[in-house]
Parts: sequence; C-alpha cells; structure tokens
Amino acid sequence: MYSKVIVFEGIDGSGKSYHLNEASKYLKKKKIDHIKLREPGGSKNSEKLRNLLLSNKSNFEKKTDLLIYLSGRSENFYKIIKPNLKKKIILIDRFVDSTTAYQHYGFGINKNIINLLNKFVLGNFKADFTFLHLVKKKNIRKKIKSKKNRYDKFSKNFYLKVQNGFLRLSKKKKNYLKIYSEETKERNKQIIQKKINLLIKIK
Ligand code: TYD
Repeated sequence: MYSKVIVFEGIDGSGKSYHLNEASKYLKKKKIDHIKLREPGGSKNSEKLRNLLLSNKSNFEKKTDLLIYLSGRSENFYKIIKPNLKKKIILIDRFVDSTTAYQHYGFGINKNIINLLNKFVLGNFKADFTFLHLVKKKNIRKKIKSKKNRYDKFSKNFYLKVQNGFLRLSKKKKNYLKIYSEETKERNKQIIQKKINLLIKIK
C-alpha cells in the first residue's frame, strides 16, 4: 500500500495544478490508489467555502478570508485527509504554505496567528513532500492571463512577495523540490515523476 501526502504549491499561474493532474494521471496509469484535493475547496463543504471566497462578488476582510481558508482546511483534514492517511496517496493543490505565503507575506497578517490556527486544525500533522512551482520575476503577470476570481487581481509586486514567501518557507528543507515553470512541461513532468517514484518507492 502506498501512502504519502504530496502538496503542489506556487503562485497563481505557476503550473502547479497542471502538474498535479499529470501526477494523478501517472499514478492512475500505475494503478496506484490516490486522492486529489484542492484548497480552497476539496471536500463538499470546502467547495462551498471556495465559491464564497473566490467570488468576485465577495468583499471579505483579509482576516475573514484567513478564517475561511482554515475552515475549509478543517473540513478537508477531518473528512478526507485523516481517514486516508497511511491508506492512500493524497495529492493536494495548495495547503498550509499557501496561507503563510498569501495571508502573511502577501497581506501582512501575523505569522504566529496563522501558525497557531494551522496547529489548532491540524495538530502535529505535516505533509510529506512539497513541489514548489516558481515563476521568473519577469513572467509573473504574463502567466496570470485570465482574471477569473478575486485572487487573480493583485499586482506583480504582490505575487512577488508571495513567491518570496514560499521560497522562505522552503529554505533549508529537504522535503521540498523547486519546479521552474520556464522549463518545458515535459521536463518538469519527468522531474516530478522521478521524485514521486522515489517517495513511494516504485520503479
Ligand atoms: P487556486 O485555486 O489555486 O486559484 P486558481 O484557480 O486561479 O489556480 O487558489 C485560489 C486563490 O486562493 C489563490 O490566489 C491563492 C489563494 N489562497 C490563499 O490566499 N490562502 C490559502 O490558504 C489558500 C489555500 C489559497
């Protein structure tokens, strides 16, 4: 039985969702049981919160946003992640680091409060591995082509701050791998597959 929690992080337009889907297709081909999750969203209740959060009609305060992200995470953790730990591979599109990167490094909310809330929801749980998708500074706005939701509307400088936040979180940590979106998709797919093979010890 294969079991690992693998997170795909990065700013909007960095290619994380594409590579998560490719990783899922790869596991499917190998007949390896896995779950795909996304944040915001994921479980049924969390998808309702996602709609609320990302709707262009919403105008929540940044602290309200933080609490909604954590509410969605709590639903995902207790309803999906926890019951499947040690049973299945779980691929997650954004997790704890997105909250620190966006809400702290982007919006300036106190980091200790964010850490405390995550601890309150997740206890000592930590993901096993994170693929951090990076975009070159000059390409940051270019990559965010469509303005689908509330969080697609920030300045280049905002995304730069968020990406730097992600980089700080990954610093000196062994369970992170940086994926550079300037590489070809094919090459990055191979890099990710190779790492997944190592993580779950398949050939
Ligand atoms: P995402 O679904 O990745 O957006 P897209 O559909 O454009 O790829 O995430 C939506 C936004 O939510 C994204 O801009 C980042 C933001 N976000 C936070 O600010 N904090 C969080 O904790 C999470 C999980 C996401």
